[in-house]
Amino acid sequence: MYRIAPSILSADFARLGDEVRAVIAAGADWIHFDVMDNHYVPNLTIGPMVAAALKPHCVKADGTKVPLDVHLMVQPVDALATAFADAGADLISFHPDASTHVDRTLQLIRAKGCAAGLVFNPATPLDVLEWVIDKVDLVLIMSVNPGFGGQSFIDSALRKTERARRLIDASGRDIRLEVDGGIKADNVRRVADAGADTFVAGSAIFGQKDYRAVIDAMRTALAAPRALSA
Ligand code: DX5
Ligand code: ZN
Repeated sequence: MYRIAPSILSADFARLGDEVRAVIAAGADWIHFDVMDNHYVPNLTIGPMVAAALKPHCVKADGTKVPLDVHLMVQPVDALATAFADAGADLISFHPDASTHVDRTLQLIRAKGCAAGLVFNPATPLDVLEWVIDKVDLVLIMSVNPGFGGQSFIDSALRKTERARRLIDASGRDIRLEVDGGIKADNVRRVADAGADTFVAGSAIFGQKDYRAVIDAMRTALAAPRALSA
């Protein structure tokens, strides 16, 4: 099943609780929460206190909870991963190149009861996956360089997504494959065809007045029959 994870990086930061509720009412499956530390990436965003404040808003009208998908762009990782688990994160992903001991960080996140994810930058190989795939619940492929919303999709992410899909399928494990950066209604289908099942979109959704119209357009694109490749 495909999931759409709006990134609140492009939401109105003065009204974050309302924005989370609005985008959930519009059909969001997960809430993607971008954490930047002005060290691993050249930008500074929001921390565990904001996650804890938003957590009660991550619920549908019928009471179903909506997972809080925390994407850590921070270095070092472990202390903040713990703080976000305590703040109510459901999934916590980090960049392996930002952690000195990737296996230990994965174990730490899972021991806190969260799903653990590894994030791969456009120029980062998937190599570490081979050694830790038994401890991974989510693979996140960056289709932009992390740090900012509103950048253009980098096409090599499609090949990397295909490769990640093969590794996940070979593992036989239930691992979600998420892609983050530059995703819009007009390219989401290509990303799905490469093997992704979860799509982050920030500016594409929050940059429009009608969040539901954008999410519906993405779902329509995802539901269309797969194009025959030449
Ligand atoms: C970038 C973030 C993304 C970002 C995506 O560092 O990880 O989640 O919000 O924004 P768009 O969809 O605008 O590329
Ligand atoms: Zn992100």
